[in-house]
Amino acid sequence: MFSDLAGLTEERWRREGYREAALPDVALRVFDELSPHRHLPVDELVGALLAVPRLPPQSYGSVDQRIVIPHHGRRFYLEVIFWVDEVAFPHHHSFSGAFHVLSGLRLHTRHRFEEERPVTAAFRLGRLSLEAAELLETGASRAIHAGDGFIHSLSHIDRPSVSLVIATDDPAGEPQLNYKPPHVAHAARHGDHVLAAQLRALELLADVDPARHVETLRREVARADLHSSFELLRHGFAAVDAVAFADLVAATGAPHELAAVFAEERRRLWFLQRRGETSRDARLLQALLLHVPSRRAILDLLRRRTPDPASWLATHVADLDLPFDDEAVAVLRQLLAGAPPDDPDLAAALADAPLLSSLFCP
Ligand SMILES: [Fe+2]
Repeated sequence: MFSDLAGLTEERWRREGYREAALPDVALRVFDELSPHRHLPVDELVGALLAVPRLPPQSYGSVDQRIVIPHHGRRFYLEVIFWVDEVAFPHHHSFSGAFHVLSGLRLHTRHRFEEERPVTAAFRLGRLSLEAAELLETGASRAIHAGDGFIHSLSHIDRPSVSLVIATDDPAGEPQLNYKPPHVAHAARHGDHVLAAQLRALELLADVDPARHVETLRREVARADLHSSFELLRHGFAAVDAVAFADLVAATGAPHELAAVFAEERRRLWFLQRRGETSRDARLLQALLLHVPSRRAILDLLRRRTPDPASWLATHVADLDLPFDDEAVAVLRQLLAGAPPDDPDLAAALADAPLLSSLFCP
């Protein structure tokens, strides 16, 4: 199958003069004609990988992902990516091509980023907003266009979820950015050696002298430039507890954009920490709550899967293991079912809870 995919892509793209902008359409037509999802079930893929005699050089965009490159040609490559529970940040790519869902339901979202405070090419402040959301089933394919005109994210619902990618091997010069909602765009690797050394020193302090670590981090954040503040706070977010981190953000007078980014990061972490233990429906609901900030849009997506999306929400919100007592969960279910709540004060408090913000934003 991989040699058929590579051969057909090569033949069709050569006819287009190997123009980068032509590869997405070529790849979509190749996926459409060869239907790789019918020929590459997960079990066979795993078996083929275990038995593989040789592979082309493997160069990975991110070591965190389970990636295999079965074909690496002169101008494009094929990539198989296995996902378990991952919820990608919105990002854009420096390559063009297309991805195909070999297996596994996933939520695919498209975003727009409007820059408001230019900083550097590798760190930008602005506003990220949702443009479109869709649920992709096995067999679906979507184009990837290089650059920040195509910002997307994928939240994988099934375990595993497997993607096949056809991508140009001629990356554009600009850095590939990740987007931290609602305000930051940043390069995955900051490339600042001084900052890298500071972060290593802080990691050491966090291990051996936590009190001095917090004090030092506070001093460094307060005097750092904007991009460095963001990277230092990212380190702090992972290294100290939620209360100490909130103190750090307040004490250092971090810009409101950064405070909002880390508040959203806290909400995201709450869902992600529970992702592996939940049912498929709960994982779908988690993904919707994380990436679709509007109740109407969530209901629209669910309508294609269930005849009564409001009652689906009311049923599965209980699977989320929310940090509320039984009474609050009962009121939440009443709200989601459209019934008048028994306790209006509790209902108002729930509507303000950050974890549920998507459900109470019309
Ligand atoms: Fe992507």
